[in-house]
This record gives sequence, structure tokens and C-alpha cells, in this order.
Amino acid sequence: MATHPLTVLVVGATGSIGRLVVAEAIARGHTVRALIRDRAKGARLLPADAELVAGDVTQPETLREAVAGADAIVLTLGSFGTGSSSPQMVDYAGVRNVLTALASSDGAPPRIALMTSIGATIRSSSYGHLLEWKRRSERLVRASGLTYTIVRPGWFDMNGPDERQLVFLQGDRRRSGGPADGCVARADIARVLVAALTAPEAADRTFELVAEQGAAPGDLGPLFAALDQDPPGSLDAVCDEANMPLDAEPQRVRDDLETVRTRATA
Ligand SMILES: NC(=O)c1ccc[n+]([C@@H]2O[C@H](COP(=O)([O-])OP(=O)(O)OC[C@H]3O[C@@H](n4cnc5c(N)ncnc54)[C@H](OP(=O)(O)O)[C@@H]3O)[C@@H](O)[C@H]2O)c1
Repeated sequence: MATHPLTVLVVGATGSIGRLVVAEAIARGHTVRALIRDRAKGARLLPADAELVAGDVTQPETLREAVAGADAIVLTLGSFGTGSSSPQMVDYAGVRNVLTALASSDGAPPRIALMTSIGATIRSSSYGHLLEWKRRSERLVRASGLTYTIVRPGWFDMNGPDERQLVFLQGDRRRSGGPADGCVARADIARVLVAALTAPEAADRTFELVAEQGAAPGDLGPLFAALDQDPPGSLDAVCDEANMPLDAEPQRVRDDLETVRTRATA
């Protein structure tokens, strides 16, 4: 695993979480590269220390410069719309396109930190099947052969000010689909995503992230270390409900998994 300082690419850098990831990574001494679609927006929202690299995750040919030489990639994409702005095109295919852009890039394979969502294993058509596409993006990352951490946060910033104790859960068993499943501060999500890039104990782990009453932990190492690793070769996280059988998946999704796997073993 690469050690400090890393060159960290943030995909989703102008978003409500991505902006905090950029700030946290800079504060940790990393060199930060921010993928942006709109340079003026990037310049307005991001610190001058961040390098802005233009790219759109729905257009694979625009991603080569951004991924070249990255030691680590944090993905916090969010979609809001239909067509090319849909969960399928952004949250899922955007992750696929970043992973495939890496295949044509020289250099050591980067460490990946992917943010999805608590409830990622709920089979639901709400929000354009958002959760299902998020889960499929997780599967691509697991199939990629890259070392990864997948963070499934609870509801953003709906925790009380005295609820900063971080709790890492596995199995995605909180399934109401609402804030009752757990909440967590945006800043803490960013902290966990950036810490995962350099924590050996976070390798190949998937977990839900919520906050409960208590103080923020000083050291995240013991929380990562208490997690079970995802089973090698498995598309799903450890203890996930097996409710998305591969043979019932759309053919294009199975093709994407095969492409990502083939590149990982090439
Ligand atoms: N709200 C919650 O409580 C909650 C809880 C758990 C999980 N989540 C998940 O968190 C995500 C939202 O996170 P957020 O608040 O940080 O999102 P956000 O503020 O909407 O930001 C989304 C980011 O994705 C980027 N993006 C979108 N399409 C892109 C494209 N084609 N190419 C490159 N970048 C693109 C946006 O760039 P632009 O600035 O160029 O648009 C922006 O940087 C959602 O997927 C949601 O499901 C939310």
C-alpha cells in the first residue's frame, strides 16, 4: 500500500461530501486532484490547493488524465435526474468508467474508497433504482481486484450534536429506508473515507457508517480492525443478504463485471 503523501483523486469533488473529502485529504497532507465538470464551480467551491482536472464520468475518454498517477481514488458521486444524469449512468456506469480508465493507465494500482449508502442491499425501484445501482457499483469495485474500502453512510447530518460516536455495522440489516436506520455527520463520512486510504485494517472492507451518542473517536484504526473482510472473490459484502442473484442481473451488468475482472487479471 502506498504511504504518505498520496496523490488522491476525488470523483464527486464538488458535492456535499466530496468537498469535505478534498479538505480532509489536504489537511492530512495528501496532494488532491479534484475531478470537475464545471471549472468555475470547482474554483468557487474548492480550496486553491486542489488541482482541478476536467472530466465527466459518463464520458470515459475524459477520465484518462484524472486517473493517471493517482495513488488513491475516493468516489462520492451523486446523481440527480434521468438519462445521462441517472443513477445508472452516474452512480453505476461512472464508477465503471473510472475503473476501466485505470486499465489504460501506467503506474501502481490505486487504493479505492467508494461511498454508497446504508440500505444498499434493499431491492427497491424508488429514486430510479438508486440503491440497486449503488450496489452494482460496489460489485464492480470488488471485482476490480483493487484494494478497496466501501462506506455505506447513514442519513447525512441528521444526527444530534452529541451524536458523534462512530459505529461501523455490517450486513446492511437496517432497512427502513429512512433516517431511523442511522445518521452521520458529513464531516465524519469524509474523515472515514480519507482515513481508509492509508489504514491497512480497512482493506477490502464494506460497512455501514452511523453515529450514536458519544464523542468522536480519536483513532479509527480499532473500528476498521473490528470489521470482517469481504470474502475473496465475492461480489457482495460479508453478511449481505443474497437477494441480487447474478444470473438474474441484466446482461450488460454481467458484461461489465466480466470486463472489469478481465482487466484486473490481465
Ligand atoms: N443524503 C443522504 O442522507 C444520503 C445518505 C446516504 C447516501 N447518500 C448518497 O450520497 C450521494 C450524494 O452525495 P452528495 O450529497 O455529496 O452529492 P452531491 O452534493 O449531489 O454531489 C454529487 C457530485 O457528483 C458529481 N457528478 C454528478 N454527475 C457527474 C458526472 N457525470 N461526472 C462527474 N461528476 C459528476 C457532481 O458534480 P457537479 O458539481 O458537476 O454536478 C458532484 O460533485 C447520493 O448518491 C446519495 O444516494 C445520501
